Amino acid sequence: MKEMLRLDLSRSQLEPRALDACKEELGILKKRLWSGEEAFTGWVRLPLAYDRNELKKILSTAEKIRKQCQVFIVIGIGGSYLGARAAISALAAGGNAAPEIFYAGQNLSGTYHKELIKKIREKEFCLCVISKSGTTTEPSVAFSILKDELYQRYGREEAAKRIYAITDSEKGVLRQEVNREGYESFAVPDDIGGRYSVLTAVGLLPIAVAGIDIEEMLLGAESVASQVSAAKGEGRGTPGTDQTDDAALLAAARASLLKRGTTVEVFEYYEPGLQYFAEWLKQLFGESEGKDGKGIFPAALQFSTDLHSMGQFLQDGNRIFFETVLNVLNPPEDLIVPESAGELLAGRSMNAINQAAVQGVIAAHETAGISIIKLDIPELTPYYFGQMIYFFETSCALSGYLMGVNPFDQPGVESYKSEMRKVLQKK
Ligand code: PA5
Repeated sequence: MKEMLRLDLSRSQLEPRALDACKEELGILKKRLWSGEEAFTGWVRLPLAYDRNELKKILSTAEKIRKQCQVFIVIGIGGSYLGARAAISALAAGGNAAPEIFYAGQNLSGTYHKELIKKIREKEFCLCVISKSGTTTEPSVAFSILKDELYQRYGREEAAKRIYAITDSEKGVLRQEVNREGYESFAVPDDIGGRYSVLTAVGLLPIAVAGIDIEEMLLGAESVASQVSAAKGEGRGTPGTDQTDDAALLAAARASLLKRGTTVEVFEYYEPGLQYFAEWLKQLFGESEGKDGKGIFPAALQFSTDLHSMGQFLQDGNRIFFETVLNVLNPPEDLIVPESAGELLAGRSMNAINQAAVQGVIAAHETAGISIIKLDIPELTPYYFGQMIYFFETSCALSGYLMGVNPFDQPGVESYKSEMRKVLQKK
C-alpha cells in the first residue's frame, strides 16, 4: 500500500482548541461540498468514478500527438494552463522522447511569442488551444498568431489536423471554430471551473503528451478522495461529519491563522521542479479566496535560492505571514558531494544537505515565532502529484466556505478585461 501526504501542524503554534472550534462547521461544509448540489463541484467526485471512455480518448490522442510532432504548444492561461505546466515541470525532468512542450497565450508579450516562433521554425509542431470560455483575450491572440504559422507551414487542411482544442461543449467562439474546421476536441465539463480542472482533459491531455502516467495521477487523487469521503465509515463517496482528514485540517489551520492576523501564506519548496506547482497553488488560493475583502494572500518562495534574497525578511521582518513548507522526502535524483567540499559536506548526499536546510530553516523560523505548516510529500511521482492536486483543491474549497466566499467564481478578474477592452476600443 502506498503512503499518503502527511500534514504536520506541530509547529503551527495553533492550540488544538483553535482547530476544534472549526470541526463541527467543517463537517457540515464537507457535506455541502460533496452534496453535488453546488455549482462547479464536479471535480469532487471525479477521481472516484473517472469516465473510462474519456480517459481512453485522452491517452490515444496523446499517443497520436507524440508521433505527430516534435513540438507541442499548449495555449491557455490561468486554470487552463497552470495545472499542466505544474505537472510537466515537476515530473517530466530528464525527457523521454516526448515532444518538446512550449506554452503560449499565458501573456501578451510580442517578444515572448516572437521568440517562440523562432524556436519552432525548423520543427514539426502541433497546437493545443485550451479555453473554457473560448473568448479569453490572451489565448485568442496567441492562437491566431500560431495558427497563421501553421497555415503557412502546412496549408489549412493539414493545419486542422494539427490543432487540438479543449473548450466548452457548446458555447463560445472556439467551439464554433472546432465545429466548422473539424479539430479534434475535448469538452471542459460544465460543472468544473478552470483552476479545478487539472484532472480533466484540460490538464491530462498535455500531461499525457509529456509522457507522464496520468492513470497513476488519477489513482493518487482517488486515494485522497477516498480518504476524505470515507470518514466515519460511511463508505466511499459519502463523507461523514468527521472532519479530521488532513485536507479539512489544513483548511481549519489556515482559517485560525488568518484570525490571528497573519494575512499572507508563503508556500516554500526546496525542489525547483515545484516552481509551477507553487504558481498553481497561488492561483488556486488567490482566485478562490480573494473576494469580498477576504482571503489569505498566497506567495511562493524557492529555497534555498530565495533564502539569500527573502530569508532576511522572513527571519526578522514584518510578521504578516505564516509558512507552508512543501517537503519532498525522496526526490527522484541525488548526487554525492566529493572530498574537495571539505569535512562538513564531503561524502554526504546533496538531498541530505537539502533536508538539513529544510530542518535548519524550520528551526530558525520557529525560534523567530513564525507559524509553520509542513506537508511531507513521499516522492515526486505522478501518484503523489495526483494526491497533491486533489488535497489542495479540497482544502481550498473548504477554506473558501469557511471564509464565507464562493471558492468557485472569480468576478474580480472581469474588471481588468472590460477596462482593457475600453482602451482597445479607443485606439
Ligand atoms: O480558474 C479560472 O476559472 C480562471 O483562471 C480561468 O481558467 C482563466 O481565466 C482562463 O479562462 P478560459 O479557460 O475561459 O480561457
